[in-house]
Amino acid sequence: MEFHNKLVTWYLLNKRNLPWRVNRIPYHVWLSEIILQQTRVDQGLPYFLSFIDAFPTVFDLADAKEEQVLKLWQGLGYYSRARNLHSTAKVISANYNGVFPNTYIELIKLKGIGDYTASAISSICFNESKAVVDGNVFRVLARYFNMDTPINSTKGIKEFKQLAQELLPSKNIGDYNQAIMELGAVVCKPQNPSCSICPLNQSCLALKNDTQKDLPVKLANNKPKTIYFNYLVVLTENKSTVIEKRLGKGIWQNLYQFPLIESAHPLTEHDLKKHPTFKKLVNDSKVELSLFNSFPIVHKLSHRTIFTNFWIVNLEQAANVNYKWDELYQLPVPVLIANFFKQFKIG
Ligand code: ADE
Repeated sequence: MEFHNKLVTWYLLNKRNLPWRVNRIPYHVWLSEIILQQTRVDQGLPYFLSFIDAFPTVFDLADAKEEQVLKLWQGLGYYSRARNLHSTAKVISANYNGVFPNTYIELIKLKGIGDYTASAISSICFNESKAVVDGNVFRVLARYFNMDTPINSTKGIKEFKQLAQELLPSKNIGDYNQAIMELGAVVCKPQNPSCSICPLNQSCLALKNDTQKDLPVKLANNKPKTIYFNYLVVLTENKSTVIEKRLGKGIWQNLYQFPLIESAHPLTEHDLKKHPTFKKLVNDSKVELSLFNSFPIVHKLSHRTIFTNFWIVNLEQAANVNYKWDELYQLPVPVLIANFFKQFKIG
């Protein structure tokens, strides 16, 4: 049997029963693929269900408030994906009458839909001959063909994409694309692949050469930069605080946060008190400052490691307070701050 036949036969018998696989509704497939770029299926499924529950159609998503979209996305990270989701829903709703375009070339024009997502939607929903190449596909191909070109090099991306496209069957492209991703997710796993039950084990070159654990090859990333976050958690007697919307570009754009002092080095209480942001916040009021966490909270992103301190700023008088404590839970915030909300119980 050919590569694609083995894969699709295995997939049809073993695929996970997932809601976006039922009717191949483009809105569902699009939403699931965007979520799955951030997380694995088991963790992404509850997010998918919450989105579909809150926004049953693309029109509902288009009409939503950005804050609600960000709140539902909270915890997935890379919030520009959620903002793009929202903005593309508006375009589909206003310019396409709520109907997704049915070709790769039209889909890729939409915000947040790149080569991977356009290939996934056009093949899964419309059977277009476009190979998807995500992390799962890189892994399956690198192992099956025993290829050691780094998958994050220009050469590697080109080589693997070309191979993936050549391997496409002439029909059932959507099933085939999902089959290869599914195999990567549940059998040809990064660690401890289940080679004994793999439908491709008769002809897998990595299995033959015992190189599964060395493949795929990835070039080392630059070391993440370390930065220090000092959140200023204002507390007043009437349970109010100061919250800002994070502006500018970046992963947490438009999420809410306590006033923040970022620094390249750890700051002491003394440093903080001299900082202009702190002085502006306190505005000559009597202040008591204490550190909430005993050790900095470490949050790792792909390109940064953030050491965070939450400073409790008890103020006698506070001119700038804008939120009551019990209103905070509704705001979309980075997980770092959501975790603080959970731990910090106001008395
Ligand atoms: N990972 C991302 N998209 C997927 C899909 N459609 N099927 C299986 N795994 C996936």
